[in-house]
Amino acid sequence: MKSYCLYFSYWHGLDFCEVCPEKLPNYEEKIKNFFEEHLHTDEEIRYCVAGSGYFDVRDHNDKWIRVWVKKGGMIVLPAGIYHRFTLDTDNYIKAMRLFVGDPVWTPFNRPHDHLPARKEYIQNFLQNEGGGQAVDAAA
Ligand code: LAC
Ligand code: NI
Repeated sequence: MKSYCLYFSYWHGLDFCEVCPEKLPNYEEKIKNFFEEHLHTDEEIRYCVAGSGYFDVRDHNDKWIRVWVKKGGMIVLPAGIYHRFTLDTDNYIKAMRLFVGDPVWTPFNRPHDHLPARKEYIQNFLQNEGGGQAVDAAA
């Protein structure tokens, strides 16, 4: 398991993102895009300051794992991991978004397995894990 503690000194910036129909411009389109399975070439770092929401990631068998992030909770998704996001029934989250250098929020919808960020993710997090259940990047 990698530790992210060292990354604190590298964080260059942060902003806040409120997701709810009243406050997010183009809410319908954005919430739809958040729920399309995608990856980023940078880490997705979110600290929940209010409300809550679901971050979904995949297990080794490609089944969804749902992470319910609530106020005071934080999630760090490595670059290259496939994921999606949706609100829960409270329909509200306010998240602090932390980033290194210039923020890059571009989502690459699955499949984007040829991206270097995806290949590095597989190398760093999947291929060398104990169970030997390596996921084929080309699958
Ligand atoms: C994002 C999250 C919602 O890309 O996955 O901002
Ligand atoms: Ni994302």
